[in-house]
Amino acid sequence: MDYQWYPGHMTKARRMMEEDIRLVDLVIELTDARVPAAGRNPDIDAMAGGKARLILLNKADLADPAANEAWLAYFKRKGFNAALIDARKRDFVRTVEAEIQKACREKIERDLRRGIKNRPVRAMVAGIPNVGKSTFINSFAGKGAAKTGNKPGVTKGKQWIRLNKNVELLDTPGILWPKFDDPLVGRNLAAIGSIRDEILDMGELAVFLISFLIREYPGELEQRYQVSIPVCSGDALPAGEAAAFLKAAAIARKCLKKGGEPDLERAARLLMDDFRSGRLGRISLEKYPPGD
Ligand code: G4P
Repeated sequence: MDYQWYPGHMTKARRMMEEDIRLVDLVIELTDARVPAAGRNPDIDAMAGGKARLILLNKADLADPAANEAWLAYFKRKGFNAALIDARKRDFVRTVEAEIQKACREKIERDLRRGIKNRPVRAMVAGIPNVGKSTFINSFAGKGAAKTGNKPGVTKGKQWIRLNKNVELLDTPGILWPKFDDPLVGRNLAAIGSIRDEILDMGELAVFLISFLIREYPGELEQRYQVSIPVCSGDALPAGEAAAFLKAAAIARKCLKKGGEPDLERAARLLMDDFRSGRLGRISLEKYPPGD
């Protein structure tokens, strides 16, 4: 399966992001807690050079809690300010506000030395498609947040959302493109739904996911489908066993074609849907940060 996917509009998105980064003090980068590394575009380090940084591991509610803690510690070890969030719920606001203050401490102190008091931190949100940028901005802004228009010296047409006296957020997020020279990264991004399903072979993707789950989360699989996992060979990703499991799951779920044959395509979609919505349980595809 070929996961390469680089639409032309990404070039425009990059240019816009480079423009927007110049206007802010802080880049809030969202990644997906189920694939914290694959969900980032490493180019952001160069693009955001010199700006304060905050990494938010979003959709933490869908990811494995132990993996969440390991990745949070990993990013902190790397010197980033970071937090785990569920962007749909506003209860992250206090944590994120505190992280913003920490990330921008230098700027705030510099302002104070120059006699500038209460100048809000200007921030922008960035991340790959579907990672939850709009959800985050809407939750963070809440109902009461005021939109402010153009400011002197700021490119025309930019809208800022005043979150409180300390923070202003650019209301359009920066779109990063997923990067996947490594086919495993591509498959992981496809599994979480970051790549349009129309260009994917769902059967193949489901077999990939089941192979991973057989190794890492067998209990969740068996419980959800009430199908026993076939005895595994020593393969890192046991594709044969995964295909057999998909067939058995199709039968158990009555995904059958007219003649009574298992409808593997339908079963595959069902399984991917179960995974993406969290019905399979809290699962991280990148379970261990590098070095752990
Ligand atoms: P984007 O701007 O980065 O492209 O992403 P967007 O906010 O549109 O979010 C993409 C999908 O992810 C949405 O689901 C959204 O509800 C969901 N989502 C965002 N943050 C979280 C989170 O922390 N946890 C969970 N579980 N889901 C999250 P959708 O199915 O496309 O839309 P909807 O039916 O939920 O409205």
